[in-house]
Amino acid sequence: MARRKIVAGNWKMNMTPSEAVALVETLKPLVQSEDVDVVYGVPAIDIIPVVEAVKGTNVAVAAENMYFEEKGAYTGEISPAMLVDAGVKYVILGHSERRDYFKETDADINKKVLKAFEHGLTPIMCCGESLEQRQQGITMDWIRQQVKIGFQNVTADQAKTAVIAYEPIWAIGTGMTATSEQAEEVCKGIRECIAEMYDDATAAEIRIQYGGSVNAGNAAELFAMPDIDGGLVGGASLKADFGKIVNYK
Ligand code: 13P
Repeated sequence: MARRKIVAGNWKMNMTPSEAVALVETLKPLVQSEDVDVVYGVPAIDIIPVVEAVKGTNVAVAAENMYFEEKGAYTGEISPAMLVDAGVKYVILGHSERRDYFKETDADINKKVLKAFEHGLTPIMCCGESLEQRQQGITMDWIRQQVKIGFQNVTADQAKTAVIAYEPIWAIGTGMTATSEQAEEVCKGIRECIAEMYDDATAAEIRIQYGGSVNAGNAAELFAMPDIDGGLVGGASLKADFGKIVNYK
């Protein structure tokens, strides 16, 4: 069974609610696609207006983060039930910016991944190496650790529905895209890791995205690689270019 491509925007900390609705309207005619799943990962405050604005279209909404507790005294956090009730389908977890600036650990991310599944949200779990780690030759060791801990106690049936985003940190927001061969090598390695943890069927179904300076000019080559099932797009998801990335063929 061929895996369906999934192209997700990660808006990061951009777009006020009114700007968000305007962007959705601009992108509406551009992101239509029969064979690609399209997702907008939006700031928490934009979730409700964006869910409303994409109603009746092919676009699903992702949160950019979520807490792993059900409810309670966690000032400033957002629960899985809140996301589900608001109409969110996906949640980006463990982005390198959250790992770096907000000190999220693999163990925290694992708790969030498990909670997301418990509530029927599809996690888009991010992993990726720094430039230093790549130069030290430990890229795959590092990524395998992130995947193995992030997916601890996740069942095969859950893993089949998950999305993993491989985002080399050195390629994020730098305009320095990994070559399609570099990206494929790691995405293939992630799939092999999933096959070892589960089985070949699970590895064949899980979707693995590449992220890091994806743009309208490089999407086609990246997404043509056998183990790259689409992209997680930062900067270019805020512009009309996102439509070209969705319709990359
Ligand atoms: P850029 O596409 O801006 O490099 O960001 C990638 C990213 O971090 C997506 O999550």
